[in-house]
Amino acid sequence: MELRGAFPEEFRSQLDLLMRLRRDVRRFRSDPVEEAVLMRCLSAIQLAPSVGLSEPWRILRVESETARASALKNFEAANAQALTGYSGEKAERYAELKLSGMRDAPVQLAVYCDDETTQGHGLGAATMPEMRRYSVVTAITLFWLALRAEGLGLGWVSVLDPQQLNRDLNAPKGWQLIGYFCIGYPERLSDTPELEETGWESRMADLPLETR
Ligand SMILES: Cc1cc2nc3c(=O)[nH]c(=O)nc-3n(C[C@H](O)[C@H](O)[C@H](O)COP(=O)(O)O)c2cc1C
Repeated sequence: MELRGAFPEEFRSQLDLLMRLRRDVRRFRSDPVEEAVLMRCLSAIQLAPSVGLSEPWRILRVESETARASALKNFEAANAQALTGYSGEKAERYAELKLSGMRDAPVQLAVYCDDETTQGHGLGAATMPEMRRYSVVTAITLFWLALRAEGLGLGWVSVLDPQQLNRDLNAPKGWQLIGYFCIGYPERLSDTPELEETGWESRMADLPLETR
C-alpha cells in the first residue's frame, strides 16, 4: 500500500463530491445487489475508528420473509405512533413522508453495538460507555460512502421499537440496536436531502462553531 500525506487536489474534489452526493434513500429499484459489491462495501466497516479498538459492530442480515415482515410491521406501528405526536399541518406533512424503503430494498441489515464486548479492554469506554455506539455510527458512515461510490443507496430506519426488533430477530443479549438499514440501487439521484425537498426541514446555512 502506498502511504501518502496529502491526497491530490483531484482526489479531494472527488471526495467532496462523494460526501455531497451521499443521500438517505427510501425509494429503491428492485434490481439485486451483487454479493461481491455488498461485501466490498461492508468491508469499509472494518476500516472505521472504534473506542479502544473495540470494533463493537455486529450485523444481522435480515433475509427471511418472516424476519422482514416483522421488521416492516414494527416500523409501521412505530411510524403510526410517531404520527400521534404531531397535529395540524405538521401531522399532515408527517403522514406524507416516506420514512423507510423496507418494502422494496433488496438488502436489509440490522446493525448492533455489542455493549458487552471485552475487545479493547474497556479503554475509553469507562467514563462514556456510549462511545462504543458512536464507534458503530462512524462505521456506518464509511459504509454509507462506500455504497454511494458504487452507485448504491442506504436508508437509515430508526422509527422502530428496538426491543421488539431484538426479540423478532433473536439478537444476542447485550447487543444494542444502532439502526435498521435498507440498501439497494436508488430510484433517483439527488444532491438535496429528501426532507429538504419535501419542505419538512432545511439544512443550516452555517456550521455552529463557537470559541471558548
Ligand atoms: C441516526 C439517523 C437516523 C435516521 N433515521 C431515519 C428514519 O428513521 N427514517 C428516514 O427516512 N430517515 C432517517 N434518517 C435519515 C435522515 O432523515 C437524513 O440523513 C437527513 O434528512 C439528511 O438527508 P441526507 O442523508 O440525504 O443528507 C436517519 C439518519 C440518521 C443519521
